[in-house]
Amino acid sequence: MKKVLTYGTFDLLHYGHLNILKKCKQLGDYLVVALSSDEFNEIKGKKSVMSFEERKEILENIKYVDEVIREDHWDQKIDDVKKHDIDIFVMGDDWKGKFDFLKDYCEVIYLPRTKSISTTLLKQIINKDEEKIKL
Ligand code: CTP
Repeated sequence: MKKVLTYGTFDLLHYGHLNILKKCKQLGDYLVVALSSDEFNEIKGKKSVMSFEERKEILENIKYVDEVIREDHWDQKIDDVKKHDIDIFVMGDDWKGKFDFLKDYCEVIYLPRTKSISTTLLKQIINKDEEKIKL
């Protein structure tokens, strides 16, 4: 069985997320998603709209996702690959080259990002709407 691993925050789940999860699953038989915890997001200077538990529940209900694990720090990737017996590590190409050190442990693939959508963009749209409501 080929196991695939990918990482992310997956806040305000959007079509770009669905696309990458689908492509990840097509590369193997079993997809593990490492989901950044709220505490890890804080370390990265990010705050998600949805909590870890909410984001986890949504991911667990996507048919391409077999398992969701926690991402708590930058340095856990090698351990995750070993512990979960991962064959392929996948990230969007905004991370191209950043995780090449994992090539000693598994295949590393960077996929092209889906154009014109991101959590950042959705947050900007929501914030603009909230400003309008206040006026
Ligand atoms: N991703 C993608 N296409 C997009 C947005 C994200 O392929 N349009 C991929 C990222 O490259 C990453 C995964 O989805 O491998 C999870 O990304 P995440 O950072 O959670 O989503 P973003 O929408 O990029 O969030 P942000 O705007 O906060 O960076």
